[in-house]
Amino acid sequence: MSDRVVTAEERREDQDFDRSLRPRKLDEFIGQAAVKANLEILIKAAKGRDEPIEHILIAGPPGLGKTTLANIMANEMGVSIRTTSGPAIEHQGALASILTNLDDRDIFFVDEIHRLARPVEESLYPAMEDFKFDFVSGKGAGAAPLRLQLPRFTVIGATTRQGMLSAPLRDRFGAVYALYFYPPDDLFTIVKRSAQLLKVDVDDRGARIIAGRSRGTPRVANRLLRRVRDYSQVRAQGRIDEPIAKDALAMLEVDELGLDSIDRRILRTIVEKYDGGPVGLDTIAVSVSEDPETVEDVYEPFLMQLGFLARTPRGRVATKLAYDHLGLVKATSGQPRLF
Ligand SMILES: Nc1ncnc2c1ncn2[C@@H]1O[C@H](COP(=O)(O)OP(=O)(O)O)[C@@H](O)[C@H]1O
Ligand SMILES: [Mg+2]
Repeated sequence: MSDRVVTAEERREDQDFDRSLRPRKLDEFIGQAAVKANLEILIKAAKGRDEPIEHILIAGPPGLGKTTLANIMANEMGVSIRTTSGPAIEHQGALASILTNLDDRDIFFVDEIHRLARPVEESLYPAMEDFKFDFVSGKGAGAAPLRLQLPRFTVIGATTRQGMLSAPLRDRFGAVYALYFYPPDDLFTIVKRSAQLLKVDVDDRGARIIAGRSRGTPRVANRLLRRVRDYSQVRAQGRIDEPIAKDALAMLEVDELGLDSIDRRILRTIVEKYDGGPVGLDTIAVSVSEDPETVEDVYEPFLMQLGFLARTPRGRVATKLAYDHLGLVKATSGQPRLF
């Protein structure tokens, strides 16, 4: 996996920080106002009826708060949360053992739910619909179908690829929420909140710089804050202001938009080697030594959000904005030239 400083994927160094900085209550969760308002209603309604909350699917790129929201829901409901991920549930038996061990109204959080094995996914359908689990005990002539009654529970699924979810699975969620990249003001608030929790001395202008280069992603904001803090301890007695933040991020090769050397390499590959595209995903992946899924899930969403990259049926295309950002002009014929 990549060790770039701006990757939205969780890295080892993040885990403790993510945990200590993770909001515990809905009102500590910054931004995403529409999603929050809806979740608040779900929680109140479920509590009022003494029922589990309905099954929820949360979709969005890595680092935007999917896991955080699942944990908040459990907290607000006062129930336990059992966390796993799609590929980790190897067979129906493993799923049965998790589900039968839940308590009434517990939350079953399935990260990367689009990657469930087919038989596991299919046995999740009746579990979600009727809290029943069907399986066949024994083999051959003595095989007998059995039906287990499960506790009432809630599935919260998280996915970075809503499009890869099968229609029957998607249909079993009562609500689907998409998280979007955070605007700079929300990221600013997140940086200030994290700084306070970590007792980092950062002024507003310094926090603005970090927020503005966090690619719309709270996880990246927290990571950049940490890196800038390290830099400031060595260079500025731990005080982060605008010049220190800028110097630290320049040293990390994170530019004004939050792009790093790998983002620039992706864009340069399309622009310089393929005259702006279209280029296939696999070709791009090879040129930056990453697997195609990582390029697609982690790198491309933000480049598309910036309007630098477009996905077309024939491949990826770099836009004029991307040329501008790289300081290149799109030649009408032949290779693009440097200014
Ligand atoms: N809305 C938010 N407000 C404050 N911090 C957030 C918010 N969303 C995410 N974070 C921070 O970012 C980190 C990554 O979020 P996480 O829920 O793990 O993302 P995902 O599961 O979508 O990859 C969290 O640990 C938390 O510290
Ligand atoms: Mg997560």
